[in-house]
Amino acid sequence: MNVGIIGSGGREHAICYMLKKSKKVSKIFCFPGNAGTDLIAQNVNLDPDNFSEIEKHCVQNNIKMLVVGPEKPLVKGIVNHFKDKSIKVFGPDMISSKLEGSKIFTKKICQKYNIPTSKFKICESLNETIEYLKNSYFPLVIKADGLASGKGVYVCENFNDAKKASEEIFNGKFGLAEQILIEEFLDGEEMSYFIVTDGKNYKFFGSAQDHKRVGEGDTGKNTGGMGCYSPSRLLSDNLELKIKKKIIEPTLNAIDEYGGVYKGFLYIGLMIKDDSPFLIEFNVRMGDPECQTILPTLKTDLMDILLSCCDGTLNQLKINFSKSKSICIVLCSKGYPEKFENNIEIKGLEQLNLLENQNIFHAGTLKTKAGIVSKGGRVLNFVSTSEDFTKCRDETINLIKKLNWKKGFFRRDIGHKVIKT
Ligand code: AMP
Ligand code: GLY
Repeated sequence: MNVGIIGSGGREHAICYMLKKSKKVSKIFCFPGNAGTDLIAQNVNLDPDNFSEIEKHCVQNNIKMLVVGPEKPLVKGIVNHFKDKSIKVFGPDMISSKLEGSKIFTKKICQKYNIPTSKFKICESLNETIEYLKNSYFPLVIKADGLASGKGVYVCENFNDAKKASEEIFNGKFGLAEQILIEEFLDGEEMSYFIVTDGKNYKFFGSAQDHKRVGEGDTGKNTGGMGCYSPSRLLSDNLELKIKKKIIEPTLNAIDEYGGVYKGFLYIGLMIKDDSPFLIEFNVRMGDPECQTILPTLKTDLMDILLSCCDGTLNQLKINFSKSKSICIVLCSKGYPEKFENNIEIKGLEQLNLLENQNIFHAGTLKTKAGIVSKGGRVLNFVSTSEDFTKCRDETINLIKKLNWKKGFFRRDIGHKVIKT
């Protein structure tokens, strides 16, 4: 079967790499892909939000299934666009995607179904917000309701910070804002838990902990993710049972009641306190860089998983992961997440000798006549799997050092919570 992948990051390169290994996959097209996917698939320079153009290309090239990497096309309704057409789409439909597309929608589900999450207040104007903040305890968290590329969340230490955040949101920094979400600040340690679902059944799809801050020791500005380790050190049978019974199952039931059809990955962002899970957020896709970290440990054919979700037969499939640990370190452009240069040549990538347990997934890269150049803040993902986190990290860092890209930087302490040095 010919398959299309929507997106251009490290997550999509990892998905492409896994699908390439499947005997069931003939040709892969990436909309639009990056220099990494270009090596193993055909990149098609189309906007991932232009569903009609993508559809035309699918028809012309006999693409029978689309896998959607990022959230934006899902929230904009790509699954609904392809409904009743002869192209399967792996991803949740528009109603289901509101779990990520509207934080207030999700909070209301939590309230209705008693799902553990932070206490919250929804305000409908700047005045109402400021009055509420005057009588609040700090720290607290202010969030824009809709998609904001990971930037619409403010952890506020005092009234002035909170007022400034609310003004930015109501002034339209993240698009038209008619409501704002104010949340109690949750203490604890974060964990990401993943499932895959066909709309009726769901299966575990890995756990991880990512490092969002730019600086070592988890300091500095927030980024899209500087690296990640999997599995999360927090996962236990007892915790997993609570995550399933108190969070996942009520949410999937709610989506079903609302008439949504959820076929895809669901990312459950959690705060864990005293072995109890609290929902921070849902993402209606795999995480990035969690996907790059987890997929190399997947033993089941990814195409079988995607097909069984599209066909509603996930209950008949066993999904196996190896027992390996995995670490992903992201090589970024110097200056990220603030100002950085693009179009910097990356020499020597093809000459790097990867061990059998290693992968390099491209993120912000572009193939040009002059060679591969950077195009974005997060440029390359280096992943190593092994029986031991220390070994994973040492081998990953050695590989990055061999590349020796002078315009890049990376965190050397990814996985510090599971590596004692
Ligand atoms: P979100 O986009 O909602 O996941 O928020 C981004 C990040 O902000 C999370 O990964 C947490 O680190 C932090 N965060 C969000 N909500 C809370 C909360 N209620 N309490 C503490 N930290 C939070
Ligand atoms: N790693 C965080 C995310 O994918 O949103």
